[in-house]
Formats: sequence, C-alpha cells, structure tokens
Amino acid sequence: MLNFSFQNTTQIHFGEGQIKAIVRAIPASARILVTYGGGSIKANGVYDQVAEALKEHTWFEFSGIEPNPSYDTLMKSLEMIREHDIDFLLAVGGGSVIDGTKFIAGAALFKGEDPWDFVVKRQRLEQALPIGCVLTLPATGSETNAGAVVTRNGDKLSFHSPLVRPVFAVLDPSVTLSLSDRQISNGVVDAFVHTMEQYLTYSVNGKVQDRFSEGLLLTLIEEGPKALAADTKNDLEVRGNIMWAATMALNGLVGAGVPQDWSTHMIGHEITGTYGVDHARTLSIVLPAVMKVCREAKRDKLLQYAERIWDLTEGDEDSRISKAIALTEHFFKMMQVPVRLSQIDINASAIDTLIEKLTKHGMTELGEHGDITPDVSRQILTAAL
Ligand code: NZQ
Ligand code: ZN
Repeated sequence: MLNFSFQNTTQIHFGEGQIKAIVRAIPASARILVTYGGGSIKANGVYDQVAEALKEHTWFEFSGIEPNPSYDTLMKSLEMIREHDIDFLLAVGGGSVIDGTKFIAGAALFKGEDPWDFVVKRQRLEQALPIGCVLTLPATGSETNAGAVVTRNGDKLSFHSPLVRPVFAVLDPSVTLSLSDRQISNGVVDAFVHTMEQYLTYSVNGKVQDRFSEGLLLTLIEEGPKALAADTKNDLEVRGNIMWAATMALNGLVGAGVPQDWSTHMIGHEITGTYGVDHARTLSIVLPAVMKVCREAKRDKLLQYAERIWDLTEGDEDSRISKAIALTEHFFKMMQVPVRLSQIDINASAIDTLIEKLTKHGMTELGEHGDITPDVSRQILTAAL
C-alpha cells in the first residue's frame, strides 16, 4: 500500500429526525447564512425543520444555487454576507448546494482580486467561513469531503481545501424520499463511479481499501434498484444504506493509500460544462468506455472486480473482463441512466470540442499512470459513442 495521511473531521449526525442536531452543532452566537437551491427543501418540509431548529439562532437565507453551481450565482451571496456580518454557513441541499457553499466560504474571506483564482489558478485558500450541512441528495460525498466543483462560462472546475470541509453533516435518509427517480439514479451511479475510480487501477495490496470499496459497490448494486422499485422505494433502510454508501465512497477513506484514476470524472465534467448533462449521466457513459480502452492497464483489477463483484470465475480472462464490463453497463441500465453518448444526442462531431476543453483545463495526463493523453481521451469518447 502507498504512504498516506488521512483525516476526516466532519461530525456526522445520521438517521431520521437528526436535523434538530444542528441546534447544538452551530454555536449559539453564530450569524448564519442558510444556503439552498431551487426550492425542493420548501416542498418536502426540510426548510421548516431547519427553521424550527434555528429558532433561537440568528439566521438569513440565500437561495437559488442551481445544479452545477455557477460562479455568477454564488458571487451574489457575498454582499449579503458582508451586510449581515455572517460567520457561519449552513448548506441545505445536494452536492451543488454544498459545493456552491464551499466556494462562498472561500470567496467571502478571499484577499485576492477575484475568488475564481482559487479555482482556476489553484491559489491556496488561507481562510474560509465554517460550513455545516444538511444533505438532501446522497451522491457526491461533498458533505464530508474537502472538494467542490463550480462552473463559470462552461468551464466546470474543481478545487480542494481542508478549510471548506463541513464541520458537521446531517444525514437523514427520510429527507431523500422526495427525490425523483432521476435524482436517485444519479446519486447511486455517482457514488458507484467514485468508488470505481479509487479501486479500478492497479493493485498495491491495499486489502482494506479494496474490500471496503467492494463492500460499497455491492451495497450500491443491491440497494440502488430497490430505491427505484415501487414496493421498496420508500424503505428507509434502503435509503439509509445508499446514503451512507455515498458518503463513504468519497470521504477519503477508500482512496487513502491506493492509486486513483479520475479520468471518468474529468471527461464527464467537460460533457456537463459543454452540454449541461447531469453529472452522473456523463459518468455512466464514460466509465464503461474507460474500462474498455484501458483494459490492459487495469487487467488485474478488472479480473478482481469480475470475481468479487460479479462472481465471474469461469472462462478465460478476456471473457471474464468483457462480461464484467457488460454487467456494469447492465447495472447502469437498471438504474435508468444512459451508457452511450448517442442516447443523449451527442455524436462524433462533439469530440473535438471536448478534447480542446480537456486540453485547455490541463487534463492531458489523466489516469493512475498519467497516460490518458488527449489522444487516449479521444479513444474513450469514441468508444462511448
Ligand atoms: O435545487 P433544489 O430545488 O434543491 O433541487 C435539487 C436539484 O434540482 C434536487 N434535490 C436535491 N435534494 C432533493 C431534491 N429534490 C427533491 N428532494 C430532495 N431531497 O436535485 C437536483 C440536483 O441536485 P444537485 O445538488 O445538483 O445534485 P448532486 O448532489 O448530484 O450534485 C451534483 C454536483 O456535485 C458535483 C457535480 O459535479 C455537480 O456539480 N460533484 C461534487 C463532488 C464533490 N464535492 O466531492 C464530487 C462529485 O464527483 C461531483 O463532481
Ligand atoms: Zn461524481
């Protein structure tokens, strides 16, 4: 296993009714800005629960953070932060609201000229407002990690800082009951792909990491379809297992001490940045293509994945790998997400633009070996048509 340093400081309040834990989790003297998205929290009662919990606190609200949060929207919060002397942010929503709030946290105290610089120029954040969050969509892992993804003029870019890791996260599976099937699917697939990108590389004999990852993959394969099936979709145990799996998939644990390959995400971000496709629906298209194009580099892990996840032990190596890739696509189809660009009306004429954007964003040495050059990304996108 590789050397690593690991710390995850987010306090988790898991379970039904846990929104009230924010009463004690936020200092009584805090001046809070509650951030949220397009209003789902008003429709499903989460806003009311937060308001009830904060009735003794001083708080203001900033709404309208959209999916794939944009720089322009987020910057509008800064005036409110100054005006009301805000010193604590409470993000209530999915990955976009939490990511957007992470950007706001850094931007509010940024000393440089334009906060976009800590994203695009990767300037180190020196300070940030503290963040707590109430997660409403299990998917990204943003609720306990130090990363965020923000979009400006079609450039969808990520930044990382330990300063924006939420201080606490409320994970109440019952708030996910109002999710549409599309968002349930997106969440399960995003968490699945996060796990795969920290697992499907080459072995460094990280037995704990591999088996944790395999546990997450098996859980998502078992529970994901249940969250879409009429007779089990409202089962809180199903929702709880998905929620915890999604958090664990990207809280740093399974990726500590092992090689990682984020090529699927980086290629997917260009598809979202250019065409506005849901994040997870880019991943379900790109991952199978990465598995095909990189099958030699990933051969041993693909065989391990085939055996431990899909019980494929018969036949020669190549047929086991091909079956494992086909079963991965089959799982995505069961989760009702696309597995080819043609299914989302993107054809070969888009590839040049996507490759140009990858190059512009410095995504020219992707993968666990840094050998996914723009040419290899082109092969991947071609395999995804
Ligand atoms: O805006 P509202 O009205 O809240 O509606 C949202 C939004 O329309 C809705 N929603 C959320 N919770 C709901 C709900 N609807 C009903 N009931 C609920 N309980 O769902 C829609 C999508 O929300 P969004 O937050 O965009 O989805 P998700 O959590 O999938 O986040 C996606 C974003 O996270 C980034 C993605 O790139 C994308 O921008 N990622 C962040 C990562 C990180 N910080 O570590 C890693 C990921 O790989 C990912 O890149
Ligand atoms: Zn993701």
